[in-house]
Amino acid sequence: MQRDFSELEQEAKNAIKTAQTPKELEAVLRLYTGKEGKITREIQAIPTLAVSERAEAGSALNTAKIQIAKAYAERQDELKQRAQKESGAEEFLDVTAPGKKIEYGSLHPLTLVQRVCGEIFGSMGFSIAQGPEIETEWYNFDALNIPADHPARDMWDTFWLKSEEAKSQRPKTKNPRFLLRTHTSPVQIRYLETHTPPVRIIAPGRVFRYEATDANHQINFYQLEGLVVDKDISVANFSAIIQEFFKRFFGFPVTVRLRPSYFPFTEPSFEVDMTCVVCKGKGCASCSHSGWLEIMGAGMVHPRVFNATGVDPAKWQGFAFGIGLDRLAMMKYKINDIRLLYEGDLRFLRQF
Ligand code: PHE
Repeated sequence: MQRDFSELEQEAKNAIKTAQTPKELEAVLRLYTGKEGKITREIQAIPTLAVSERAEAGSALNTAKIQIAKAYAERQDELKQRAQKESGAEEFLDVTAPGKKIEYGSLHPLTLVQRVCGEIFGSMGFSIAQGPEIETEWYNFDALNIPADHPARDMWDTFWLKSEEAKSQRPKTKNPRFLLRTHTSPVQIRYLETHTPPVRIIAPGRVFRYEATDANHQINFYQLEGLVVDKDISVANFSAIIQEFFKRFFGFPVTVRLRPSYFPFTEPSFEVDMTCVVCKGKGCASCSHSGWLEIMGAGMVHPRVFNATGVDPAKWQGFAFGIGLDRLAMMKYKINDIRLLYEGDLRFLRQF
């Protein structure tokens, strides 16, 4: 007897078409072509048929199976599209919802201070110069009238860099030992070497000292070098410029005092102090309880510095100064520990 499987096939196709969810669809497929599905069982039964019927039954069942798989794939697509449409309809934009808060970064207090200094000095006719953080002994010391055997070298605790030249070279040449610059004064030399006076520059930058860290000291910090070279320049010019700078920087006049001091590259030299803004002169950790804060070193450019850079000291004079930018920032924002500037603590930095 020839068996007809078309009814079974039709039944399966109908069930597939009416399946409403992917889960239902899977169940239908299993019911017909799964391990124990109706079609599967018929296929398994082929050997029990009369030999003459086997080939035809096999081919008919195979076709049925293929048709069912096709119908299954079609229905699967339909269900998928339907699901997509539905979820699309649910996508709703609430234009009245409050927006996501965007986190803005802020500028580091040292960056802010550097910028303000640039603006103030810029308005007084200064331009900005720069030099490398890795310097040679020549620029950092020798050209600034601090030869190797000079005791003043002890004023700057230096990070020396290892280099092959270190062993053989003596500092007469211009490329002896390398170091991390201990101050921004080497920029004076670099600038005078490449420019003819008159000169009016500031050079902000990072400097390094081999020192113990405490509330007032860091192994690296920031300075702002100033250099003015012209004819008829005197200490009075320096004093006027610096008072004006402080007034504009803090927004009110600040008491400043000049103390005689010593730097090998200036003569005369002075240390400039300002009243501690944090404690208003009463004494606190920022000013080592003195009420005064040492804010810069300064002086009239030493003739030897001019000689080292090919500028005629008989024709030109000038003054130079080096401001501690960290201390300026500490005074402006009333920060009592320099280390806060270098810790990257967001609770601190977000305040600026
Ligand atoms: N370079 C000096 C220091 O770091 C400061 C200074 C600069 C002094 C310019 C005089 C003139 O201590």
